[in-house]
Amino acid sequence: MKIAKNVERLGTEAVYSIFAKTKKLTQQGKKIIDLSLGQSNFKSPKHVVDATIKALKDGHHGYTLPNGTIECREAVSRKIKSLYKANIEPERIIIMPGGKPTMHYAISFFGEPGAEIIYPDPGFPIYESMIHYTGAKAVSFNLVENKDFLINPDKILSLINEKTRLLILNNPNNPTGSFTGKDIIDKLADGLKKFPQVAILCDEIYDRLIFDKKEIPTFLNYPDLYDRLIILNGWSKTYAMTGWRLGWGVWPEKLIEHVFKFCVNNHSCVNTAAQYGAIAALDGPENELNNMIKEFTIRRKLLVDGLRNLKGIECSMPGGSFFAFPNIKGTGMNGEEFTNRCLQEAGVAVIPGTAFGKFATNYVRFNFATSQKNISNALEKIHNMLS
Ligand SMILES: Cc1ncc(COP(=O)(O)O)c(C=O)c1O
Repeated sequence: MKIAKNVERLGTEAVYSIFAKTKKLTQQGKKIIDLSLGQSNFKSPKHVVDATIKALKDGHHGYTLPNGTIECREAVSRKIKSLYKANIEPERIIIMPGGKPTMHYAISFFGEPGAEIIYPDPGFPIYESMIHYTGAKAVSFNLVENKDFLINPDKILSLINEKTRLLILNNPNNPTGSFTGKDIIDKLADGLKKFPQVAILCDEIYDRLIFDKKEIPTFLNYPDLYDRLIILNGWSKTYAMTGWRLGWGVWPEKLIEHVFKFCVNNHSCVNTAAQYGAIAALDGPENELNNMIKEFTIRRKLLVDGLRNLKGIECSMPGGSFFAFPNIKGTGMNGEEFTNRCLQEAGVAVIPGTAFGKFATNYVRFNFATSQKNISNALEKIHNMLS
């Protein structure tokens, strides 16, 4: 048996191997505090669950159009309008089984041998994995701690050449928790006008999880870029719906027929009843989201203050998402050693920075979307481990 080379080039997410190790240790009776997975401990809103159950009871059991029901696409369009005052017709919206497929499709559209794709490092590992899969050259732009891990427009624009096909951005960023504000994004959007051949994939999956009353400078607010702009978003993080597998993409009009064909060739359509829940999430009350952000604000401070009190650890304050990305170099360990000892000795599951890129050897990703009690206990256990 001989499998295709591009399949061998696919990467993975280390989070799943840590997830498996955590599960094994738990089965052996060890108590593990899990700060590894990228999801919150909140439940999906009740009105979303109710709408989905009703859809099933009402007999919505068949296929939908591959790009999603018109009602679901209209709900996304309405939400974008009410949040960001941007006019995106439902025809440009594709409902996906999660946020990830938009990434997979977009990178497949532009990657091939001889092409270059620019992406953040540290960043979500699937960007690099998929670029390698396509055979394109993966060109990273580094997010650095002494610049608060913010996007650097000059650096990014300097990496563009005639081979560049796609630029991948992620704001707020996983794993660093950094949030890049409007002045910087304005500068980048302006600079990108000089490179009309470069498509842009902006991953805005954490667009609603931003702290300190700030708002995302979404790329949807730059209509000059619409003919080459792909936005990745979805329900997973905002509505605590990671297991539902629901996402949406906004695509340039001229790519829609190709995306449609990808959907037909791949998943046919997104779970029908879940699309009813998706509409309820977008159109329904936001009190649960607001409570979640309030609670995350408290947890963020608890975790960051606690990490800063530990010997050898420095941590910048995350502006968005639910991740902190401390520098642990002062402990005398690298991220991998630190993470291994955390799991085996302290019983705390966290992710080494290298899971997100080659530059992040001295960093570790902590998820603070868990209970305050879990965060306090984890900090105490790590404190004991370091003493
Ligand atoms: C930056 C980023 N983009 C996309 C995704 C994928 O989201 P989904 O679970 O909806 O596929 C994640 C999930 O962790 C993420 O962190």
